Amino acid sequence: MLRLLLLLAVVAFSACQARYEPNWESLDKRPLPDWYDKGKFGIFIHWGVFSVPSFGSEWFWHSWRSGSKSYVDFMTKNYRQDWAYADFAEQFTAEFYDPNAWADIFKASGAKYVVLTSKHHEGFTNWPSKSAFNWNSMDVGPKRDLVGELAKAVRSRTDIHFGLYHSLFEWYNPLYLEDAKNNFTTRKFVERKTMPELYEIVNTYEPDLIWSDGDAGPDTYWNSTGFLAWLYNDSPVKDKVVVNDRWGNGIGCHHGGYYTCHDRYNPGHIVNHKWENCMTIDFSSWGYRRNSALKDYATIEQLLTTMAETISCGGNLLMNVGPTHDGRILPIFEERLRQMGEWLKVNGEAIYESTPWVHQNDTVTPKIWYTSNAKTVYVIVLEWPTDGTLTLGAPTTTTSTKVSLVGYEGAEFKWSAKQGSGMVIDFPAIPINKMPCKWAWVLKMENLTTMPWQSLLKASQFVKDREINFIN
Ligand SMILES: *[C@@H]1O[C@H](CO)[C@@H](O)[C@H](O)[C@H]1NC(C)=O
Ligand SMILES: *[C@@H]1O[C@H](CO)[C@@H](O)[C@H](O)[C@H]1NC(C)=O
Ligand SMILES: *[C@@H]1O[C@H](CO)[C@@H](O)[C@H](O)[C@H]1NC(C)=O
Ligand SMILES: *[C@@H]1O[C@H](CO)[C@@H](O)[C@H](O)[C@H]1NC(C)=O
Repeated sequence: MLRLLLLLAVVAFSACQARYEPNWESLDKRPLPDWYDKGKFGIFIHWGVFSVPSFGSEWFWHSWRSGSKSYVDFMTKNYRQDWAYADFAEQFTAEFYDPNAWADIFKASGAKYVVLTSKHHEGFTNWPSKSAFNWNSMDVGPKRDLVGELAKAVRSRTDIHFGLYHSLFEWYNPLYLEDAKNNFTTRKFVERKTMPELYEIVNTYEPDLIWSDGDAGPDTYWNSTGFLAWLYNDSPVKDKVVVNDRWGNGIGCHHGGYYTCHDRYNPGHIVNHKWENCMTIDFSSWGYRRNSALKDYATIEQLLTTMAETISCGGNLLMNVGPTHDGRILPIFEERLRQMGEWLKVNGEAIYESTPWVHQNDTVTPKIWYTSNAKTVYVIVLEWPTDGTLTLGAPTTTTSTKVSLVGYEGAEFKWSAKQGSGMVIDFPAIPINKMPCKWAWVLKMENLTTMPWQSLLKASQFVKDREINFIN
């Protein structure tokens, strides 16, 4: 009996040790599951009733109701006078939605995680939610569980982590509007809608990532810390789940899992916390919009530039596509995703599982970004030097420094040291069919001086002191 008591005491003690409390101080101590930092690259998918009008952006309903002229004109010209936003739901048909085909495109893109909108600010749930009566994808529109089908396809066909975006607030939900009117002293909306939904998506789909958004209101109103303590301690995903930072007014960029700070966050320098640059291939919309032109979509060169800037500074890149109301990922998005994958297939060693180097970009030549992996330094060269030489200011060479082009079967690149520090690298003329890739090139540098490594160790120590746990 005594032994049993002792055993129970030990179990209870260790369980206590591992539990997080519902406050930021405790929750912020949780180490980020390392699949996230290693993965580096994810696909964001904005899909909902807004994909039906597919005009302007996924904020269509809000822009229209706020009287924005182009939206009002669009509705006046094209829809009968009593048309309500809810009428669009029936046209959210998804007849070409083939989650297996989506999963195959995501796999080809080289992404390690996907994040699908389970519910955007319009409140329509892409799964048969028990708390979204008649405003969910099973009751109206697709008549399908869009979330469940994608989860199944991604998990059965790929090793990509499956994540869900979820908007805490809903623009026009009467309960939310009432709570907001009461200065968030009442919590009807959170109790009847937000929390039941969050628990439902976690228990049903067991997402590896929850991308919270629409956090207008105090974190105490949302009970974010209560939810996260449950998520980290007792949920079915407690060991693997990763979350972002949008959990209430003033919380973003300060608390939670990784930081997103603001959309398209791309600081250009190291941040002492794991962060993500969420951005979209269509420069001005997350949801699909029909009124877009070719110039509105980022080119592969632009996307690779953003990837280099982001990864070099310790961020993850979450790149968005907007499917159509009938369930297609249009060829322009598909092409960009496949191009990313083509590039990563050759150059992935500079991206996946990499860590920032001492320098993020070069000190003298623009459009040069560095990453590292153990003692190898990678140089992402966004433009092939037209005069056949590349001058770099950041690396300090030794006599045994080696420079090679990743994916190239030919000889190592010749280089010479510059007086003081830095180097000049010869870029030979390489026939097009021998080029490892078409858009951005990666140099692999070995046996640079040990000096910067000592300062890197110091840098990572500094980072550790500030309770940053993404380095390992
Ligand atoms: C609303 O609540 C905030 C925070 O609790 C408080 O600072 C503010 O004074 C309140 N506003 C009104 C109008 O009651
Ligand atoms: C907040 O969430 C926790 C965990 O689910 C729950 O125990 C607690 O009652 C919630 N608090 C409020 C005020 O709803
Ligand atoms: C390196 O990046 C910083 C910050 O983004 C920028 O200010 C600087 O001009 C860049 N250096 C070069 C050589 O482009
Ligand atoms: C160069 O690096 C390799 C490993 O990358 C190592 O085996 C070798 O000893 C290094 N040479 C010198 C001279 O440091």
